[in-house]
Amino acid sequence: MNQAVILAGGQGKRMKAPIPKPMFKVLGEPMLEWVLSACEAAELSRTVTGYESNQIEAYLGDRCRTVFQAERLGTGHAVMQTIPFLSEDTSGSTLVLCGDAPFIDSRTIADSLLRHTKEKNAVTVITATVEQPFGYGRILRTDSGIAGIVEEKDATDEQRKITEINSGCYWFRTADLIQLLGKITNDNKQQEYYLTDTIAIALQDGLRAGAFCSKNPNVVLGANDRKGLLKLNTAARMAVLEQHMDNGVGFCCTDGIIIERHVEIGAGTEILPGTIIRGNSRIGCNCTIGPNCIIENTVIGDNSVLNSVQAYDSVIDSDVKIGPFVHIRPGSHIASNTLIGDFVEIKNSEIGANTAISHLAYVGDSNVGEYVNIGCGCATVNFDGIKKSRCEIGDHAFIGCNTNLIAPVSLGTYAYTAAGTTVTADVPDYALAIDRGTLNIRDGYSKKKFET
Ligand code: UD1
Ligand code: CA
Repeated sequence: MNQAVILAGGQGKRMKAPIPKPMFKVLGEPMLEWVLSACEAAELSRTVTGYESNQIEAYLGDRCRTVFQAERLGTGHAVMQTIPFLSEDTSGSTLVLCGDAPFIDSRTIADSLLRHTKEKNAVTVITATVEQPFGYGRILRTDSGIAGIVEEKDATDEQRKITEINSGCYWFRTADLIQLLGKITNDNKQQEYYLTDTIAIALQDGLRAGAFCSKNPNVVLGANDRKGLLKLNTAARMAVLEQHMDNGVGFCCTDGIIIERHVEIGAGTEILPGTIIRGNSRIGCNCTIGPNCIIENTVIGDNSVLNSVQAYDSVIDSDVKIGPFVHIRPGSHIASNTLIGDFVEIKNSEIGANTAISHLAYVGDSNVGEYVNIGCGCATVNFDGIKKSRCEIGDHAFIGCNTNLIAPVSLGTYAYTAAGTTVTADVPDYALAIDRGTLNIRDGYSKKKFET
C-alpha cells in the first residue's frame, strides 16, 4: 500500500502571525489542505509530521495521522518520526511532500509514481526547472540518473547555476526509506538531518535513484512570507479563472474576482469585478454575477442576475433577479422568477416562484408562497428575545408597505395587509388585515405654529 508523509513543520515566523505556515490560506484553503487533497485524490494513506502544533492537529481531526517532532532538526529528522507508521506496511512506496508547497497535483503524483516503479528506484525526486533556483536544493544529474541533491548553502558556485531543483516531493520505496533514514547524519553547514542526503546514500548502497521533472513548475512554489503567499494566491487565482474561461465563462475584467477552486460555473455566465465565489458554490449558465458579490456555498440556477449581493449557504433558482445590496443568509431558497430588490435581507426562508420583494424588507424564518408581493419596509418579526418563530405567507398574498408580521403568524392565499399594519393573528385566505388608527387632519396647524 502506498502512503504519503506530509512535512508540516513550518512555524511561519516571517508571516508574523501565530499560525503554523501550512495553515496559511491560498485561495481560501490552508496550504496543507491543497497537499492533503492531492494525496487523497491519489488515494494515498496519509501521515502529517512536523514541529509541534495543535492548530494543525485540530484542523486535521481524524482525517489523517499526526506525529510531531519535539525538536526541529531537519527534513530527514521529521520523516524519521513517522518510522513507526511506515513500518506497519513496507510493501509499497511512500511519497514525502511539503505541507507548504500547495500546488502538487494528483496527476504529477501518479505520473511520478509510474516512473518510480518502472525504473525500480529506491527514491525518485520530483523536480522542476525554474528560472530562479535560489534557495532550493539543486539536482546533480549524471548520464544515467542523478548523483544527489545539494542544498543552496552547501553548493559550489558552479552547482548554484543548476536550474533543475528539488521540489521537496519524493517517492521512496518504503522499506528502503526506513533503511536510508537510519544512515543520514547532520554533518552539514546547517547541522540538520537532510532528507535529501538519502539520495547519495542510496546510490552508495547500490540502489537506484531517479528524478521526475514535472511539467508544472508551480509544484515547487511555496511561501515563506506574506509576499510569497500573495504570489501563490495570484497563481492559483489566475489558474482558476483561466479554467473557467476555457469552460465558456466570461470576464471582461478580472479585477477583484476571486473564485475558489471547487466552484462550478456554467457556460455563458459573466462574472463582473469585485466578486468572490467561495466553497462549494455552483452557478448555472448565462447568469450575470457581480459587480461586488460574495457567493459562498450557494447554488444558483440559469439566467439569474445578482448585483452587489452577498449569499451564503443558500439555493437560488433560475431567472432570479437580485440586488443591488441584498443579503441572502444561510438556509434560504429563492425559487425561480423572483425579484429581490435593493436593501433586502432574507434569512432561513423559502421564497416561492414569481414573488417580488422589491426593496427594504427583512424576511427571516419564513415560508413565502408564489406570486407574493412584499412591499417596502416590511419585516417578519421572528425573534421575541428568547426564541425564533416562523411566518407563513400564502400564494398571491399582498403585504402592504411597512407591515410587521409578528411570528408565529400565518397569512392565507390572496391575504392582504394594509400598509403600516402590525399582524399579530393569522389572516385567512382572501382577508385583509388592517389595524390603522383614525387619521386626523388639522387644518392650518403649522401656519398657526409659525405665526406665534
Ligand atoms: C527543502 C529541501 C530542498 C528543496 C526544498 C523545496 C532539504 C534538506 N532540502 O529545503 O532541497 O529544494 O525543500 O521547498 O530537505 N520541516 C519539518 N521539520 C524540520 C524541518 C523541516 O517538518 O525539522 C518541514 C518544513 O516545515 C517544510 C519542509 O519540511 O514544510 C521543508 O523544509 P524547509 O526547511 O522549508 O526546507 P528547505 O530548506 O526549503
Ligand atoms: Ca522551504
